[in-house]
Amino acid sequence: MTTKRNDNVHVAIIMDGNGRWAEARGMVRSEGHKSGAKRVKQVILHADTCGVRKLSLWGFSTDNWNRPEYEVNILMQLFKKFILQEADELHQRDACVTFIGDRSGLPEQLQRVMAALEDRTKDNNGLHLEIALNYGGRDEIVRAVNKAVEAGKQVTQESFLQLLDTPDEPDLIIRTSGEQRTSGFMPFQATSSEWYFEPVTWPEYTPSHFDTALAAYKARDRRFGGLSKKVV
Ligand code: IPE
Ligand code: IPE
Ligand code: MG
Repeated sequence: MTTKRNDNVHVAIIMDGNGRWAEARGMVRSEGHKSGAKRVKQVILHADTCGVRKLSLWGFSTDNWNRPEYEVNILMQLFKKFILQEADELHQRDACVTFIGDRSGLPEQLQRVMAALEDRTKDNNGLHLEIALNYGGRDEIVRAVNKAVEAGKQVTQESFLQLLDTPDEPDLIIRTSGEQRTSGFMPFQATSSEWYFEPVTWPEYTPSHFDTALAAYKARDRRFGGLSKKVV
């Protein structure tokens, strides 16, 4: 895939706080997830308009199976509905959509719509939208290690990256809802990623919050173990 984007930034978002948003309003948690789904669309369109090269969104973790079955089922239905509803527009916008995580653990119908969207958008050159479903960083590493073991090959850092679900390190990782932990997001890739912790919950997240995070990121001095560009 080639990208023709005007802003060569890879942004990832840990979309957190749907449940607390609903509970604070006397609603059931699923209402928070429904409200959060609307924000997903708005933020994707906004990131596309900003010319961001890649947007990674974490929708469901390998640990989220610990939630009550009805909540998990609602989330799975929302993912399927979202993909089916938004497929045409994403394709028209030239977005290339890929999924990371252990998809074999997801409902078969969901796996089918994921594969269809990936296939339909694979040659697109616009925003690369990466959606993490049934994703866990340790799980990703263990699956990659097993691939290397099965191939009987030792790895280098570079070759190991290629065995992961994605080799790309986000430039900026945003987590909403005020939680300041990774919960296992891209532990191998994200060594130089800049973190931005946003106090508002995901259903309250707007394009203007995204702009603020991007501006904060651009003002940072990334050194990658070297020296500041300001001093060399
Ligand atoms: C994020 O919101 C969505 C998922 C993890 C699927 P949460 O459901 O984690 O909301 P809180 O953190 O309980 O408020
Ligand atoms: C992380 O949020 C996963 C997603 C946002 C999909 P969680 O709400 O599941 O994380 P913890 O349990 O607070 O660490
Ligand atoms: Mg949460």
